[in-house]
Amino acid sequence: MEINVNNFNTNSLLLNTINQIKTNQTPIWLMRQAGRYLPEYQKLRKEAGSFLNLCLNPELAKEITLQPIKRFNFDAAIVFSDILTIPMACNRNLRFNEKKGPILNPIKKPEEILNLKITHYEYLEPIYKTLSLVKKDLEKDKTLIGFVGAPFTIALYMIEGRSSNNYKKSILFFKENKELFIKLLNKLEIMVANHIIKQIESGAEVIQIFESHAEIALKHYFTEFCINPVKNIITKVKKKYPNTPIIGFPRNAKEHYKNYAEVVNLDCISIDQHVNINWAINNIKFPKNKKLCIQGNLNPNLLLKKEKEIIENINKILVTFSKTNHIFNLGHGVLKETPTDHIKLLVETIRNFKI
Ligand code: CP3
Repeated sequence: MEINVNNFNTNSLLLNTINQIKTNQTPIWLMRQAGRYLPEYQKLRKEAGSFLNLCLNPELAKEITLQPIKRFNFDAAIVFSDILTIPMACNRNLRFNEKKGPILNPIKKPEEILNLKITHYEYLEPIYKTLSLVKKDLEKDKTLIGFVGAPFTIALYMIEGRSSNNYKKSILFFKENKELFIKLLNKLEIMVANHIIKQIESGAEVIQIFESHAEIALKHYFTEFCINPVKNIITKVKKKYPNTPIIGFPRNAKEHYKNYAEVVNLDCISIDQHVNINWAINNIKFPKNKKLCIQGNLNPNLLLKKEKEIIENINKILVTFSKTNHIFNLGHGVLKETPTDHIKLLVETIRNFKI
């Protein structure tokens, strides 16, 4: 069944900002706004036993998705899930270690790439169910965000088998087996595009694509590994759902943010804290004369500082973006040490600022 998802929700501050409809407020949500810095999250996680148990239980995942909205009144809810549910659904045995983070069976043989496919839809179905449950409970002026990892970032975890500071093993792999690595990206591209489409059909109004490890591809492979797969995914999704906005986040891509935005057909680009905002406004351009919309980019570490420093830095960002469509966010996810009072202060400061 095809559902009608192409109506603009004009009550939504975030959608209006992306769709270039004039607003007098800056919308705000935060990457990792649901999670370990929230005592109410810690409580549910303890009861469920693990992070994955939460992701796979739509009732609990719904509650966690809504926790930061209830507490801070953010403009958007991002579905509680993970980018690694795709390799999990490909039977790569995903688990989470308290200290090391995600661990999965690393890809060792070419056959593992050639035979890769989704065999365990039961790891993806709960995400769609969570989205439909959240959609029912979310107020109409709030926006529901779905998300995926970009193929390159997912591929690094699949080859490395875990998080890494330098992804040495993966770099060696793609330098020695480039064709095979591209085969892996092609396979992930199809899975990711379908995962986005299903999220839209379950109620997601905006999709964010996380390319968290873009910097690993920067020197020689950025176009082939990061730009092309995401460009293809967006073309496929937009053919079916042209009006669902897509936010791209090629984290730490430095000056390559420019060619990313020129080629990938985004509706909004999220910048990390290392990007100079004035550089971004003057240099990042979207194709087809589409007007620019930028998301970001407060350093998550600043939320650990004193109130005065926090407010100064928020205001600096708001003022610099005052003539550009802007969604307030961090340069990366909320840190687990972040005091909840500081998030409250952040939201109040944004609400008090009139464009
Ligand atoms: O933003 C949100 O509130 C939605 C939920 C969300 C999670 N993961 C939940 C999560 C989102 C958008 C993600 C994306 C994700 N997952 C990315 C891209 C963004 C980024 O951080 O760069 C990546 C690389 C992953 C993979 C992943 N998941 C790692 C490396 C880790 C361990 C490190 C860490 O921060 O704990 C996770 C675990 C994870 N994903 C947690 C949460 C709330 C922590 C789980 C817990 O310990 O309770």
